[in-house]
Amino acid sequence: MTATLSVKVWRGKAEGGFSHYEVPRLASQTVLDVVTHIQRQLEPTLSYRFACRVGMCGSCAMTVNGKACWTCRTHVSKVVDAQGSLEIAPLANLPVIKDLATDMSEFFDKWTRAGGAFKGAATRHDPFAKVAPASNERKAANAGIECIGCGVCYASCDVVSWRPDYLGPAAMNRSWTLVNDVRDVAQTERLRAVAGDAGCHACHTLGSCTERCPKHLSPTVSIAGLKRTVARAAVRKQL
Ligand code: SF4
Ligand code: FES
Repeated sequence: MTATLSVKVWRGKAEGGFSHYEVPRLASQTVLDVVTHIQRQLEPTLSYRFACRVGMCGSCAMTVNGKACWTCRTHVSKVVDAQGSLEIAPLANLPVIKDLATDMSEFFDKWTRAGGAFKGAATRHDPFAKVAPASNERKAANAGIECIGCGVCYASCDVVSWRPDYLGPAAMNRSWTLVNDVRDVAQTERLRAVAGDAGCHACHTLGSCTERCPKHLSPTVSIAGLKRTVARAAVRKQL
């Protein structure tokens, strides 16, 4: 193990460049530890984002040696190259606000456009809905529910790069989660929302989203489920 890491960090906005820093290498060090060391000890104006540090909030995602990842749970030893070098950049496919902080507005707006908000019919006076944990309905709805909105899948998706209006893997994973939620009553609107040109049928099943998702979810499977359900509804003239 080298005693120091040679770290290149993106500075600036869309226009900018990499600055170089030497960071002491430590046991069990995460990429977020490295960025925090740089900001606290070497470059106080460096902008980046994190909150929980334990893989819950989804705010710390960056591009590390060319691949998007959650930096608080990514150990340096897993991503550093043989020369002890790291290159840390903001997430791809999103506008850069400054340095490592990206503007997530469009990413979350697409969740709304994909029908990502739950719509129920029950009121507070109704009893709690019961969906048995062992039921197929519950298992289907739970399959993608642990998404933390980190944007790793979105930054890794070539279709998003090619056509920026594409709703993207995270928004459609959310949509599929709600399609499988038996309490939700907005299914037709939701299927219409993802049936368009920029929706599920634009996915080329490249699979980078599923390969990189830190929560081991499969947006690829979710989008395939939407494709099937949209096609079935179209044949039945329900859309
Ligand atoms: Fe992150 Fe996975 Fe959710 Fe995409 S699906 S936003 S990679 S947790
Ligand atoms: Fe919350 Fe990394 S800081 S997921």
